[in-house]
Amino acid sequence: MALDASEIQTIEHDVLVIGAGGAGLRAAIECSAQQLSTGVISKSLLGKAHTVMAEGGMAAAMGNVDSRDNWKVHFRDTMRGGKFLNVWRMAELHAKQAPDRVRELEEWGAVFDRTKDGLISQRNFGGHRYPRLAHVGDRTGLELIRSLQDHGVHQGISFHMECTALEVLKDGDRVSGVLAYWRETGRFVVFRCKAVIMATGGGGKAWKVTSNSWEYTGDGIAMAYDAGAELMDMEFTQFHPTGMVWPPSVRGTLVTEGVRGDGGILKNSKGERFMFGYIPEKFAAETADTVEEAERWLDGDKNARRPPELLTRDEVARSINAEVKAGRGSPHGGVFLDIASRRPAEFIRRKLPSMYHQFKELAEVDITTDMMEVGPTLHYFMGGIRVDADTQMSTVPGLFACGECGAGLHGANRLGGNSLSDLLVFGKLAGTGAADYVRGLSSTPTTSHDQILAGVRRATDILKRDTGTNPYVLHDKLQETMQANVGIIRDKEEIEKALVDLAALGKEAETMKAPGTSQYNPGWHEALSMRSLLVTSEVVARAALMREESRGAHTRNDFPGEREEWVQYNVIVKKGPGGMEVEKRKRPDPPPLLKEIAYAKIEDLESGKVGADA
Ligand code: FUM
Repeated sequence: MALDASEIQTIEHDVLVIGAGGAGLRAAIECSAQQLSTGVISKSLLGKAHTVMAEGGMAAAMGNVDSRDNWKVHFRDTMRGGKFLNVWRMAELHAKQAPDRVRELEEWGAVFDRTKDGLISQRNFGGHRYPRLAHVGDRTGLELIRSLQDHGVHQGISFHMECTALEVLKDGDRVSGVLAYWRETGRFVVFRCKAVIMATGGGGKAWKVTSNSWEYTGDGIAMAYDAGAELMDMEFTQFHPTGMVWPPSVRGTLVTEGVRGDGGILKNSKGERFMFGYIPEKFAAETADTVEEAERWLDGDKNARRPPELLTRDEVARSINAEVKAGRGSPHGGVFLDIASRRPAEFIRRKLPSMYHQFKELAEVDITTDMMEVGPTLHYFMGGIRVDADTQMSTVPGLFACGECGAGLHGANRLGGNSLSDLLVFGKLAGTGAADYVRGLSSTPTTSHDQILAGVRRATDILKRDTGTNPYVLHDKLQETMQANVGIIRDKEEIEKALVDLAALGKEAETMKAPGTSQYNPGWHEALSMRSLLVTSEVVARAALMREESRGAHTRNDFPGEREEWVQYNVIVKKGPGGMEVEKRKRPDPPPLLKEIAYAKIEDLESGKVGADA
């Protein structure tokens, strides 16, 4: 093991992107298009990213299926879905720029389903007033990744696969590189660069039931925290309403919202379409409250209101949770999702091919004839690294973030489909922001041998211990406590219990062991990711404790309902001299016109009474 930093492999780029999901790829394409030497490191293999779990489509107000759609309605839906906690400027940029990003993707070779007139087809999703999700069956995220990869590879981006970033290196306040290691050989590598773009996704693996795969351990969030960046809105963790609940080995696997968008309905064990009983007052004006009206909507009546199964994810997940708790759940602790009785088999196989195969192969259920069993699964972090809306730079000079690990667009709850458009819009802006930053530097930052060696020692100490804690056992315990105490419904006592558990786990983590060499040592990989998981989980728990209200995906049993004063605050977490600091920070006032649009009655927006000048 090299103990002299000069013996460690060094690779230089202008910009290093960490993460090869949609956000990372789009950011890298932008940097490379601006003639910067651009590297992308990916913990996993190229193409294996949580982006593919956004199956149902990317939201963009193109108006292809309903011409009443436009950026203002999309903006309004996003703000309402996020319970008005979204960063106003980000929601505006996103709604305005998403259509161009989708068209650009098409120019780069992405294939989409089509309308009869040959336009990109758009489907319904929860919280979106009009059919707005550009899609290809239920494999949209996959198609997005494929198109971006093809484009990026041909543009000369350097890809470094199976390479895990450990920490951000700094020269004074600003970023100077990243310490990482190759997973196969266990050898360390220093990337020297002028800017780093975090695109590492969330930290769903801190929960037991999750749609996230092994890569999602909050690495970018923890590295940014260690580098001194501010984190925001971390209390808002999204439970997607429909994950598989059976068999146990696949519990949590995503069942796309596209099933409900295409007409699927939720039923309890008594066969009742229970969502009619959970329509919140604030969405009453736009939600069908009778089966008859919901069926008219399904038949294409544009004046009918949307069915309650298409309420926002926070509402649907809570309703499913309540049905199960009331003893009206399915045999394996979920509820039933029925598309079989709603659409012909040929339609289901064409529009939802992955779901068809997923249930056939994993659960031996034919969704063209039988109902699925589904329940909430931890899917997405609304919070993350706090960034400037236009440049995506964090509070650390040279450190940028985009996609799921960045905060701001989604507020307290993300609308389905807004993640794919998020990563395209803000991936591009992060790329531009980083390129501008790099061009504006008057000197090249340098990396510090001391910092590199300290990072290497921290990582290799784990290999030297013969006794100590098994990282897999630690991970199981972490998942137990986060699932039980920082779940869909939370309260002070439970969150405090989680914090006590996390402190104990943190202590145990100091003696984690993965004896042997760094080569082919999966226990070592697990131990290294535990650090990120523990930091990320603590940030979530502390932020959840501070927000004493229920808003969006954050539901406090002891503080039911939204509290008006809280919409004025974000919870900010950062590393202070004495440990984790949590602050309730006042939000800037919104621009008056955006506020008017967000709170407008839909008929006033459509008639032009509101927002005509925007
Ligand atoms: O349900 C889905 O297809 C997921 C989409 C998303 O998270 O945006």
